[in-house]
Amino acid sequence: MTDAATDPTLLRPHAEQQYAHELAALARLDDRPRPPSWQLSPWAVVTYLLGGELSDGTVVTPKYVGPRRLMEVAVATLATDRALLLLGVPGTAKTWVSEHLSAAISGTSTRLVQGTAGTSEDAVRYGWNYARLLAEGPSADALVPSPIMTAMRDGAIARIEELTRIPADVQDALITILSEKTLPVAELGIEVQANKGFNVIATANDRDRGVNELSSALRRRFNTVVLPLPASEEDEVAIVTRRVEQLGSALELPALPTAADEIRRVVTVFRELRQGVTTDGRTKLKSPSGTLSTAEAISVVTGGLALSAHFGDGILRSADIAAGILGSVVKDPVADRVVWSEYLEAVVRERPEWADFYRACREITG
Ligand SMILES: Nc1ncnc2c1ncn2[C@@H]1O[C@H](COP(=O)(O)OP(=O)(O)OP(=O)(O)O)[C@@H](O)[C@H]1O
Ligand SMILES: [Mg+2]
Repeated sequence: MTDAATDPTLLRPHAEQQYAHELAALARLDDRPRPPSWQLSPWAVVTYLLGGELSDGTVVTPKYVGPRRLMEVAVATLATDRALLLLGVPGTAKTWVSEHLSAAISGTSTRLVQGTAGTSEDAVRYGWNYARLLAEGPSADALVPSPIMTAMRDGAIARIEELTRIPADVQDALITILSEKTLPVAELGIEVQANKGFNVIATANDRDRGVNELSSALRRRFNTVVLPLPASEEDEVAIVTRRVEQLGSALELPALPTAADEIRRVVTVFRELRQGVTTDGRTKLKSPSGTLSTAEAISVVTGGLALSAHFGDGILRSADIAAGILGSVVKDPVADRVVWSEYLEAVVRERPEWADFYRACREITG
């Protein structure tokens, strides 16, 4: 295997590559009991997610910012025979947490099934290499295992993204896997039985239609952990700051030292519009149709950094984030534009320290 952890040309290394040194240090120092096939103890997995300093001085960076208890419940679930469903509105780190959990527990986050309306049973169970199938007939060599089948064999975590987008009959293929822990291959008259350590992390977005269509039989196989929006402005600023730093360095954008004010402004605008009231509680606001998630705040700031680095003076300014904010807020060209104009005039304009931002917004709102 090549040492991808140090390959600087990768656009986006997997969690287990990017944080290989943290995972190695945790594994070395972790003397608590590990469930079968786990690379780390549950305690060390939670430390990996929430960050901390190890006894040898290694600093573990926080990946998830939020209640520790939620991560403890998620990790404890994975040590049982029940699967884990991470549920939440868009941009609450469901995919992010799922990737880091499987990296920490199984050492790899790549056994992944992406759920879409077109996900077939093959993607969940197994498929065939048709050239071999035609030449040799059904044989173990012609079988193409799904990531789930591979995880069962390896006693590892498999991930299913956007579970609720998968058609109901395909979802049902999971029931046997999750309850009997076996995957029959009828064509070969065999079955693949899961080894200890196998489990599934699924994510689902509770804004998507169809969430309630998760069959109750399947739902009973999952423990659900709901990931909340960041509780406080401080938390959200911390998340955006950290992620923007990481993304900026991965994209090799020049580091901008004075981004803190603009980051706080983006987060404030997003939170106020999302919650329908200003931070001081005085002015009620209409909320726009979009979700204004933390993930979008991260892209607004990253986009602003690129603007400022390539077309500005290298300092993140209001004008660099105004267009991004407008794009996130105004998803519906009529209704959201009204919401935005009201916010601009009633709130932004009244804040003297936001004068630059007000001007920049007026310029592009027209
Ligand atoms: N509480 C949080 N802690 C750390 N990072 C967070 C948090 N909330 C959001 N993020 C960041 O937001 C980004 C988007 O997260 P992610 O893609 O996992 O969201 P999601 O819940 O899967 O959204 P979707 O429903 O759209 O798939 C990630 O870069 C993640 O780091
Ligand atoms: Mg996701």
